[in-house]
Amino acid sequence: MLEVSGASGGYGPIQVIHDLSVSVDKAELVALVGSNGAGKTTLLRAISGLQPLTGGEIRLDGEPIGHLPAHLRVARGLAHVPEGRQVFGPLSVEDNLRLGAYLNRSDNVSRKRDRVFDLFPALAEKRRAAAGSLSGGQQQMLAIGRALMSSPRVLMLDEPSMGLAPNLVDTILDTVGQLARDGMAILLVEQNAVAALRIAARGYVIETGRITQADNSGALLRDERLRAAYLGE
Ligand SMILES: Nc1ncnc2c1ncn2[C@@H]1O[C@H](COP(=O)(O)OP(=O)(O)OP(=O)(O)O)[C@@H](O)[C@H]1O
Ligand SMILES: [Mg+2]
Repeated sequence: MLEVSGASGGYGPIQVIHDLSVSVDKAELVALVGSNGAGKTTLLRAISGLQPLTGGEIRLDGEPIGHLPAHLRVARGLAHVPEGRQVFGPLSVEDNLRLGAYLNRSDNVSRKRDRVFDLFPALAEKRRAAAGSLSGGQQQMLAIGRALMSSPRVLMLDEPSMGLAPNLVDTILDTVGQLARDGMAILLVEQNAVAALRIAARGYVIETGRITQADNSGALLRDERLRAAYLGE
């Protein structure tokens, strides 16, 4: 579904990601784990078209999309929940969701919104509240909900567990797992390697802009070196 091969890029003359190759199938949840500054956000932003690559190729359903502007990648079925949530604070929950559907014809919007409220009942109760008044966990739910409003086939999430209490991390990651079981291809970026690998089928480890390990999640969770480096054991 999503295939990134040989992606390289960075900021001006500074190369941050080096020849990265990552793929995600339909109904597959893949984790990309790595420590602070490894290049995870840079890769997701490049896949979304928010910043350029200097080399490599991105395919969605076999079609190259690397030349398309970000909004056309969304229209092809690629959605991105950015790091730090970035909801529109003064706008209501419902209006934030509506903005996520800006590319869609209006007749589907309320059905999609109801689907988001089914997934996250806490949001339904707050539908008219300003997004900025929500708790961190609810804002993360809203950020995911907004991405779902574009009816993505591929969903990329950038550290959705960041700053959340453990029970909320579980709630959000359970829902992410459910979306994959329902058929979505999901690329989950996390510093929280244990939580991410527990729900993922496969994982990649990224260190200073390079993939250093790629395996099924069980094998990564058992790997001694990974445990020492990332799992705090
Ligand atoms: N706008 C920018 N300009 C210059 N360098 C940047 C910029 N954003 C990130 N970097 C650098 O690129 C490298 C990778 O950053 P990136 O944000 O992709 O890492 P990350 O894996 O997402 O880290 P974190 O887990 O902290 O979010 C870091 O060395 C960072 O300092
Ligand atoms: Mg990041």
